[in-house]
Amino acid sequence: MSKPRILVIDDEAAIRDSLKMILEYEDYQFVGAASGQDGLATVQKERPDAVLLDIKMPGMDGMEVLRKLHALDESLPVIMISGHGSTATTVEAIKSGAVDYFEKPLSTERVIVTLRNVLKQSELSAENRDLKIAMESKYEIVGQSPALRGVLESVQRAAPTNATVLLLGESGVGKELVARTIHRNSPRAGQRFVQVNCAAIPEELIESELFGHEKGSFTGATEKQVGKFEQADRGTIFLDEVGDMSQKTQAKVLRVLQEQEVERLGSARTIKVDVRVIAATNKNLEDAIERGEFREDLFFRLNVIPIVVPPLRDRREDIPRLVQHFAKRTAEEHNLKPKRFDQAAMETLQRYRWRGNIRELRNTVERLMIMTPVDSVRVEDLPADLRSGESPAPRPAAASPENPNSTAPAAVKADAQASGAGTLREFKDASERAYLVQKLRENNWNISKTAEVIDTPRSNLYKKLEQYGIKQEVDG
Ligand SMILES: Nc1ncnc2c1ncn2[C@@H]1O[C@H](COP(=O)(O)OP(=O)(O)OP(=O)(O)O)[C@@H](O)[C@H]1O
Ligand SMILES: [Mg+2]
Repeated sequence: MSKPRILVIDDEAAIRDSLKMILEYEDYQFVGAASGQDGLATVQKERPDAVLLDIKMPGMDGMEVLRKLHALDESLPVIMISGHGSTATTVEAIKSGAVDYFEKPLSTERVIVTLRNVLKQSELSAENRDLKIAMESKYEIVGQSPALRGVLESVQRAAPTNATVLLLGESGVGKELVARTIHRNSPRAGQRFVQVNCAAIPEELIESELFGHEKGSFTGATEKQVGKFEQADRGTIFLDEVGDMSQKTQAKVLRVLQEQEVERLGSARTIKVDVRVIAATNKNLEDAIERGEFREDLFFRLNVIPIVVPPLRDRREDIPRLVQHFAKRTAEEHNLKPKRFDQAAMETLQRYRWRGNIRELRNTVERLMIMTPVDSVRVEDLPADLRSGESPAPRPAAASPENPNSTAPAAVKADAQASGAGTLREFKDASERAYLVQKLRENNWNISKTAEVIDTPRSNLYKKLEQYGIKQEVDG
């Protein structure tokens, strides 16, 4: 790192000289100015890291210079130099944003220590600022389509309240992102956001995850564990994949929501918790209720403010912005040269069906950014699936301009099971099953590979195989 540059603005040559000596001895770079005017001009030319500023100067006095400096750069640390007996002015200077002050005659020791602290502090706040910008971009919800605007309006209304929110939508549409945005815009933003993925935690562990346990409460409980609900006290708990909880867990979660208190496993003591609940699922909970898999009373508890996050194919107009956003982020993260997507390529991306929604789009853009050795991505550079636009049967057909909301799998009739489908649910299940079988065949029944191609967690694919009783065919 280069030497920190310190600007000294003082009309007294003797003060400038002595500070020059102190600063250079301490390995700072010294820049001097003999008047306020001169100082302001120097700031713009030399971009100092800190300014030492005399309060009493002929012409423009220190207070005025301070105001002007901060108009130029709010984050520039300014330390005032005051003659004795000007306490009132010093106080005023601190109130106006000076970070500290020195009294004449100057103490070398104090100059050095103060300056070191001030520079350290300003370096930290610069880092914080960068970090904050990076975080904001990570959590930025990109898009301006009417479908997305509807979501954002609901978020805005729900965020300031304590109301339970239920986020519904396909995999990869941005439910988690929306959940975090609600938390960050709520009065609980300063507290924790605790995420629980109900589908990823094995059945026998989920209760202890959620509610905690006392040491020795079951075999293997060698230490006490604080549950997620307790961790989220005064903050927000995000129950992700809430449709995947067992009946038993559902009953316990319902109790916490009703009573706002938890009991650790192996303890009779109840602990009050104050949590805001956001739940999410890509399942149709009403259907799950009908099948007796999800408790209706829990559904009513969760479904206070339902927000449906629409699939990407219902907001294709957001695709160019999303592509640019992910391209920029990938370039920054991996230190790559920025790339453009030419118009035809962008149109192709806009036409594609995006079953894995925004997650699939993000992965595609990332791959292109990393793997394509050109500055401008053309249609030829896109993966074959994407270029052909139409996916192979029996993948559901892409929405047409006449019927933009169509999610109806047109090609699915080819599948014997689908033609017998009576209800919409049966039809959807049959087409999902047919799609999975097709994809598994294409990938030689390699589960990991298939899961990657269709952009779903492996655990989810296993679940589906079980759900639909799909087994590898011998001569498939
Ligand atoms: N509007 C958006 N702008 C920018 N990034 C987005 C947007 N929507 C989603 N993303 C990004 O897409 C990815 C998938 O989003 P997220 O994990 O929130 O989806 P999800 O609905 O929770 O999916 P799943 O049901 O599979 O858990 C994340 O990286 C997220 O940051
Ligand atoms: Mg999610």
